[in-house]
Amino acid sequence: MSKVATIEIDGEKYEFPVVEGTENELGIDIKKLRAEAGVITLDRGYKNTGSCESAITFLNGEEGILRYRGYSIEALAEKADFLEVAYLLIFGELPTKTQLDKFYADIKEESTVDEEMKKILDGFPKSAHPMGVLSSLTSALIAFNPSSVNVDSAEDMYKAIVKILGKFPVLAAWTLRKKNSLPLNYGDDSLGYVENLHKMMFEKPGKSYKVDKEVIDALDKLLILHADHEQNCSTSTVRMVGSSHAGLFASISAGISALWGPLHGGANQAVIEMLERIKEDGGDTKKFMAKAKDKEDPFRLMGFGHRVYKNFDPRAKIIKKSADEVLAQLGVDDPVLDIAKGLEKEALEDQYFVDRKLYPNVDFYSGIIYRALGIPVEMFTVMFALGRLPGWIAQWREMRLMKEPIGRPRQIYTGANLREFKEVEKR
Ligand code: SDX
Repeated sequence: MSKVATIEIDGEKYEFPVVEGTENELGIDIKKLRAEAGVITLDRGYKNTGSCESAITFLNGEEGILRYRGYSIEALAEKADFLEVAYLLIFGELPTKTQLDKFYADIKEESTVDEEMKKILDGFPKSAHPMGVLSSLTSALIAFNPSSVNVDSAEDMYKAIVKILGKFPVLAAWTLRKKNSLPLNYGDDSLGYVENLHKMMFEKPGKSYKVDKEVIDALDKLLILHADHEQNCSTSTVRMVGSSHAGLFASISAGISALWGPLHGGANQAVIEMLERIKEDGGDTKKFMAKAKDKEDPFRLMGFGHRVYKNFDPRAKIIKKSADEVLAQLGVDDPVLDIAKGLEKEALEDQYFVDRKLYPNVDFYSGIIYRALGIPVEMFTVMFALGRLPGWIAQWREMRLMKEPIGRPRQIYTGANLREFKEVEKR
């Protein structure tokens, strides 16, 4: 028996169907609310509002569950590699060896970037933040790949997908090489997807390139953990922009800008900057905990809290364990890791944080690993974007295949009522 929700306004009752998901989540379908009751809902930050039905990622914030297409994040982080997970998120099933090999071969085919793109990169100062550069370069890809995606053609859609998966790592690596005044390079088709990314980022002219397997494995796992997260701010942006039938590259460029914000993907950079600040200040974590709780103080404990997780972010648990392993394997002793663990311990015992269910999120420990891998702090959110790319693609594709309507929220107007225009002489 399908459930029904009843809303009563001024003595009038209105009934709306209740949608039930495969994990027993319930949502009131209010598509007829305004037409029937003449009212809209108001939900700042969409904390209680579902924007769509999706079959890609399942989160349970109360229990700290995260699954991609039904597979637990713990199993995927341990057993899969990033390109397998990208295929799973986008096409819905884990690939066979043949499918995966063809997928990577097609991506490699598309991993060259038009030489003219280098002129656009030249226009940026070295001081430009890599996320701003990456968003611009991604948008610029459209100029060299003008055909907008015909989503009704599986071949067209596939071509656009392998194009962005092939070119995005090149652009991301170029943003770092620009900052380091290194010549722009291309990938090495003999390497795997993640090792190739690492080589493009770090190889130096005239120097032999080698990298520990542990580094690639750690990077691969971090990219998997960032690959999708249902309707977060940047993914909702990608879906919103795509809902106007703007192209895939333009939608992803918008998502990169949304991810850049310090309340979202930019938090991984802000966490390390916060930990460094605490270290420089003498390591007094209690002082900064007090600042985080002081409503008069804008300081927040970056890497803590989450809109959905009111329990441990399962990714944070995996990353924290991986941070210990990677730093031990690489023989790195990073004092900010101890500060991070001290902060976590204090926060988990502090009533303010306990009452608000504020736990470490994906960004709290990830920067410590990126730093141990030699990735500069201003590149941390670029690494987040590289991980989230398959999720953005999968969500954009699902939105278009489901023929979702253009996103256009309503509002409650609180401005001036009608008033007569006055000529400037009379004002
Ligand atoms: C990501 O959505 C996703 O899925 C995002 C993400 C993904 O994979 O795409 O998981 C990636 O963005 C993770 C979050 C990274 N951001 C940070 O670490 C920045 C620090 N965190 C906060 O800014 C905050 O927790 C948010 C933005 C993450 C969530 O904010 P909400 O859900 O809007 O919660 P809120 O701001 O309403 O906070 C509720 C209460 C408030 O106190 P009261 O008004 O109830 O007294 O908790 C307090 C807040 O002041 N609070 C914090 C805090 N986070 C929330 N207080 C101190 N430090 C914090 N970090």
